[in-house]
Amino acid sequence: MRVLVTGGAGYIGSHTLLQLLRSDHDVLVYDNFTNSAPEALARVQSLSNRPLAQVTGDIRDSTRLNETFAQFRPEAVIHFAGLKSVGNSVAHPLSYYDTNVAGTLQLLRAMSSHGCDRIVFSSSATVYGEAIYLPCDEDHPLQPASPYGRSKMMVEMIIRDWAARHRDTSAVLLRYFNPVGADASGRIGEDPTDIPENLMPYVAQVAVGTRAELSVYGADYPTDDGTGERDYIHVEDLARAHCAALDYAARSPGCEAINVGTGTSVSVLQMVAAFERASGRPIPYRVVPRRAGDVARMCANVAKAQRLLGWQAQMGLEEMCRSTWAWQSANPAGYRQQA
Ligand SMILES: NC(=O)c1ccc[n+]([C@@H]2O[C@H](COP(=O)([O-])OP(=O)(O)OC[C@H]3O[C@@H](n4cnc5c(N)ncnc54)[C@H](O)[C@@H]3O)[C@@H](O)[C@H]2O)c1
Repeated sequence: MRVLVTGGAGYIGSHTLLQLLRSDHDVLVYDNFTNSAPEALARVQSLSNRPLAQVTGDIRDSTRLNETFAQFRPEAVIHFAGLKSVGNSVAHPLSYYDTNVAGTLQLLRAMSSHGCDRIVFSSSATVYGEAIYLPCDEDHPLQPASPYGRSKMMVEMIIRDWAARHRDTSAVLLRYFNPVGADASGRIGEDPTDIPENLMPYVAQVAVGTRAELSVYGADYPTDDGTGERDYIHVEDLARAHCAALDYAARSPGCEAINVGTGTSVSVLQMVAAFERASGRPIPYRVVPRRAGDVARMCANVAKAQRLLGWQAQMGLEEMCRSTWAWQSANPAGYRQQA
């Protein structure tokens, strides 16, 4: 299938590209590299040994998008491009709505103009906000607590309406839980340009010596060890979910939101212990007060992914930590340092 991948140079995009290329799809990446490096694409190309077309462009640039659609004629789009920091979205809400919402409008317009009627969209478990019940299924009310989360919810609603206008259109809204890990080769991985907001890249930076210690936000939650629990999903499993979603979209018109997680939750201290085992390095940490907006526990109901996509997570905590360490130890400064 000819697949246009927006934001394909980013963390999840680069791992998905590898799976797409290995599954013999024709792929074009459309990215403005605002939060990624062209080096990631060079490495994907060398790992897959397959050609990878690239266009440097912004999803809000309708002229460039339309030129790209006219030339490549994609049969489907995987839409990763967007801004993703919850904290930044509170400080810069308009940038988030502009890139995530207005950018998606431009993309859908280009798709409509060029007869492309299949999309897989990167949504997030953040659309659920603080869960009323667990594990959280796709019918859980949407009550996002940040401009970032609201931008994802708005895009979901827009895509749902867009898909409803024509009976041949298909859309899959993948609600990721907490993506972690890296390709087992250690050649591609998560490369935060700022202080990481997420646990795993922070732990990895402590292990490699870039940061002195980990702050554990609260050890008085009603969980087994008192620290927050999340549903971490290996990025390779997540990449496979995109391939399964593309296949599903090709045979199933309509619009479906689907959780992508493991269905189990892991605490901060369990993650720290697993990373110490994987890396052989100590992870010094200090317990500090809870962080505003954090919840005790979050975990996905993954029955719908199994039922519709025939997909389920295969990789566990050890593989998540081992692959992250393979990436971090070989690339302590991410893509800025050529391996
Ligand atoms: N990583 C997570 O924890 C997580 C969780 C849930 C959902 N998501 C969503 O998944 C998607 C991918 O996440 P990621 O972790 O790979 O992020 P990322 O920042 O690594 O990748 C996003 C990519 O989009 C590109 N981009 C940003 N704005 C653009 C624009 N205006 N035009 C063209 N390209 C643009 C960036 O350069 C980058 O390559 C995002 O939409 C994110 O919101 C991520």
